Amino acid sequence: MYKRTIDNYWSFKTADTKEFTHCYHAYPAMMIPQVARTLIERFSPKGGCYFLFDPYMGSGTSLVEASLKGINSIGTDINPLARMISQAKTTHFDIAEIEKCISEIQLFPFFFSEEKVTSTDFSRISNYSFWYSEPILLKLSYISQTIDSFDNSVQLFFKIALSEVVREVSFTRNGEFKRFRMAEDKIKQFSPDVFGLFESKVYRNLEGLKHYNRANGNATAKICDFNTVYDIPNDLLPDESIDMIVTSPPYGDSHTTVAYGQFSRWANEWFDFPNAKNLDNLLMGGKKKAIQQFETESIKEELQAIENTDLTRYSEVVSFLNDYSDSIHNIAPKIRKGGVVCFVVGNRTVKGIQIPLDYFTAETFEKLGFQHIKTIVREIPNKRMPSKNSPTNVTGAKASTMSNEYIVILSRM
Ligand SMILES: C[S@@+](CC[C@H](N)C(=O)[O-])C[C@H]1O[C@@H](n2cnc3c(N)ncnc32)[C@H](O)[C@@H]1O
Repeated sequence: MYKRTIDNYWSFKTADTKEFTHCYHAYPAMMIPQVARTLIERFSPKGGCYFLFDPYMGSGTSLVEASLKGINSIGTDINPLARMISQAKTTHFDIAEIEKCISEIQLFPFFFSEEKVTSTDFSRISNYSFWYSEPILLKLSYISQTIDSFDNSVQLFFKIALSEVVREVSFTRNGEFKRFRMAEDKIKQFSPDVFGLFESKVYRNLEGLKHYNRANGNATAKICDFNTVYDIPNDLLPDESIDMIVTSPPYGDSHTTVAYGQFSRWANEWFDFPNAKNLDNLLMGGKKKAIQQFETESIKEELQAIENTDLTRYSEVVSFLNDYSDSIHNIAPKIRKGGVVCFVVGNRTVKGIQIPLDYFTAETFEKLGFQHIKTIVREIPNKRMPSKNSPTNVTGAKASTMSNEYIVILSRM
């Protein structure tokens, strides 16, 4: 249908994925920087790439890579944590100012006492005593108040380090995106070094920043919060203004695939960002609409088969695809003639049936005046995402859902 090319080059098995500011903060289903980098290098449109767009920016991998190549970019995400990470990763903070602040951080273990904590109101964090011990909350609050006393221009750099700590020192089970509390016996032994952890992240990120600041520094990256499913504001992105899209969209709703909202809730609540609690409902496919609102030949049989087997799963899949299709309809006019879109997608399996989202993506763009250039199949060695799920209600039955991703490349005619 839309020819796939398997190319092992794109697996980047031994690549350092944490270069530059890519080391700052974990995020679910991050794109490998080398994928974004190589797409820009090999598939930039004729006439050049001066303005790049990522409509589902996540932690801003594409924007960082664009900026390293001196390309201006714009990205959007409705998850506030994603925007905070992307903003931090694309900012050229002043190293000297940061080093001044670090000398204060080094003194935390000596100067800290609980009486010095000015804010002890944690009511913005739901069920906070279930997720944190009180001494830990007080230390986190002390870090926050110290960051607030730093020069405005560098506060974000430190907040991004704190944002990771906030999650790691909670009672959530490590290594999972979803919010599961540790077992009681683990909690009893759990005494993380809050200040040490924070300091080590600051140092790690500082190395990344130094590397980033030495590279090309003139490009701008604009971080936005519009929802591409509904509208793309014309004043921010006029029609035909974009040379290239490099993005990785979700591959299903957050409830049954990657739990962006749950993963982000620690930071979103700590920083009192909006929609922290109901984010997963706002992301693509978050609201159930059982009626299919798009036309498709490319995945018709798969959808039919799922509908015949399980109406609930069918409505989950269709709700996501309705939003995804609307989003592509809003994105398409923003690309200039000859411009290139690169969508890195995953093909999930529902009820044992794999949904070729790469075909659907290519088909939807083609109907909007794009031409399919190629689809590259790559292995995903590093991505932390469920590779198995329960395809049936049979306990313990697992089916492989994804071990490849598909890079769909099209150009606007
Ligand atoms: C696969 S992740 C992107 C990861 C990113 N490429 C990176 O390297 O971190 C998909 C992103 O889509 C975002 N998203 C979901 N629905 C969205 C919508 N309607 N508008 C904008 N972003 C959305 C999620 O919040 C998530 O951050």
